[in-house]
Amino acid sequence: MLVLVTGAAGFIGSHLVDRLLADGHEVVGVDDLSSGSTSNPGMDLWEMDVADPALTGRVAARRPEVVCHLAAQVSVRASVADPLRDARVNVVGTANVLEAARAAGARKVVFTSSCAVYGVPDALPVSPGAELRPASPYAASKVSGEIYARMYRDLHGIDFTTLTLANVYGPRQTPEGEAGVISIFTDALLAGRPTRIFGDGGQTRDYVHVLDVVDAFARATGDQGGGGRFNVGTGLQTTDRKLHSLVADAAGAPDEPEFVPPRLGDLPAMAVDPRLTREALGWMAKFGLREGLADTVAWARERSTAGRP
Ligand SMILES: NC(=O)c1ccc[n+]([C@@H]2O[C@H](COP(=O)([O-])OP(=O)(O)OC[C@H]3O[C@@H](n4cnc5c(N)ncnc54)[C@H](O)[C@@H]3O)[C@@H](O)[C@H]2O)c1
Repeated sequence: MLVLVTGAAGFIGSHLVDRLLADGHEVVGVDDLSSGSTSNPGMDLWEMDVADPALTGRVAARRPEVVCHLAAQVSVRASVADPLRDARVNVVGTANVLEAARAAGARKVVFTSSCAVYGVPDALPVSPGAELRPASPYAASKVSGEIYARMYRDLHGIDFTTLTLANVYGPRQTPEGEAGVISIFTDALLAGRPTRIFGDGGQTRDYVHVLDVVDAFARATGDQGGGGRFNVGTGLQTTDRKLHSLVADAAGAPDEPEFVPPRLGDLPAMAVDPRLTREALGWMAKFGLREGLADTVAWARERSTAGRP
């Protein structure tokens, strides 16, 4: 089938394009290349803004069967600093992508959300039915995108699935992403530079490997999971201190982080419950963190040896 992938040159989007092409699908990518830079020659890449009104006509002419919407302003901090820019890309951009999907007669939209929508939940790992408590413009924009997707299903009959991603890591990630801490630690430890942990090291996150994440997307492009929100994570919490030890171990570097005061607004703990995702999509994470970090550090080592930024 023909799949349109927005954010196709980004960290997760580029892996998704590789996976869809390997599965024998045809892919059209949309990306303004504002942060992404990876382009699989097997796809037809349109360099454009997802909020560009011209998107609808172009997409309608190509008639993709499924639209995977990953393009976004991805930084929580940048969303607090410039909420209007965040809303333009993440809210207006999502409305534009949904309208393009409608005009194209697409069967389904797979919308990319974030565990940031849960804020500080009552219990961990947080279930997909938990109350949404967005604590940043970025999180609010992701909640809004899902509401738009649901509304388009009710109004126009285009199916959707929301994938709510935990902290994604793996090859091709740059230090600016939501789970940038792994690539920040990796780059610093490989270069012999000092590393810092904000707070006492007890903050936790749920780290999920990018190849597991794109497997969830590949499954969601089918009919299963229509109209639902599914967590894509391991359900496991890893503290910052433990993460540092694991990355240092994978990099063969000393495990000696400096502890600095915590950053205002950082959520204390997060892990998402993936059980419903297993039931509905048959998905579960295959990579353990140690194995996934070995793969990530090997990629970063190769990139630094090749002298790339
Ligand atoms: N990385 C994570 O841990 C994580 C966690 C939760 C959710 N997400 C979500 O996953 C998606 C992909 O994130 P990523 O980590 O691959 O980040 P990324 O920055 O690598 O990818 C985003 C891509 O979107 C493109 N883009 C940005 N603004 C655009 C615009 N206006 N028009 C067209 N293209 C635009 C960028 O150039 C980039 O290629 C995003 O929706 C993000 O919110 C990521």
